[in-house]
Amino acid sequence: MKALVKRLLRYEPQAATAEVRRILNTDRVPGRAYCPDNEGDLIHALILAHDYRRCLQTGFGTGSTALYMLLATERSAGTVRSLDWSPNNFNEIGRRHLAGTRFEARHTLVEEPSHKAMSRLLQAETSFDFVFLDAWKTFDYLAYELFIANRLLADGGCIMFDDSHMPSVHRAIAMLTRHYGYEEIDYGRYGEPATLRIFQILTSRSLRRPYRAFRKVVPLAQQAPTRDYTFYRRF
Ligand SMILES: C[S@@+](CC[C@H](N)C(=O)[O-])C[C@H]1O[C@@H](n2cnc3c(N)ncnc32)[C@H](O)[C@@H]1O
Repeated sequence: MKALVKRLLRYEPQAATAEVRRILNTDRVPGRAYCPDNEGDLIHALILAHDYRRCLQTGFGTGSTALYMLLATERSAGTVRSLDWSPNNFNEIGRRHLAGTRFEARHTLVEEPSHKAMSRLLQAETSFDFVFLDAWKTFDYLAYELFIANRLLADGGCIMFDDSHMPSVHRAIAMLTRHYGYEEIDYGRYGEPATLRIFQILTSRSLRRPYRAFRKVVPLAQQAPTRDYTFYRRF
């Protein structure tokens, strides 16, 4: 019975992203972190729907999320920048998956801790349309990186979190919505079937989504400083 319900609710990946799965399955390394098909499809649909062109992610690893971003930005010849401190570990896998593909030239891998790389992006006043956070996920790192991501992100852009069931990510999301005015996307609008949500709840036994995405609806200059001195924005 349980198996039947699972089979009925199982996610059917989008045909449009089949190429990414083919690349990843050619040389997949068991036990390593690859994003699930449904998460990759959401990344792809979000970027396409809003014509996001400049993507940034923390955590390159196996390169799976980078590949979904690269496919989605192909039409607009957009770029993907990945920040990952781990040159001899996961990154080797991601580099291998991208090597020789037509996507490789639009991808930049910065091999250093994400907080250091992000502070330089802030110094350079670089802009992005889509930011995916999937590296170190204690609250202090996330808060620092969100502070910067909020400044790098274009109006209408999107910040997406992996592992959003984690308490630290949950707190970081509260910071984004309460203090910076971000709004969570309507997942159905980007092709998420209702059955997937039921499947996630049943398999994780939690109402917390495994990944979540938020749009910047209030421009930086209009994000009101809060009154309790937890957050303050003068510049
Ligand atoms: C879950 S994996 C990323 C998976 C990737 N998004 C994908 O789907 O293919 C997390 C990655 O974060 C990297 N990482 C952990 N802490 C980091 C930090 N402080 N700065 C940069 N990268 C970090 C690890 O090296 C690892 O490759």
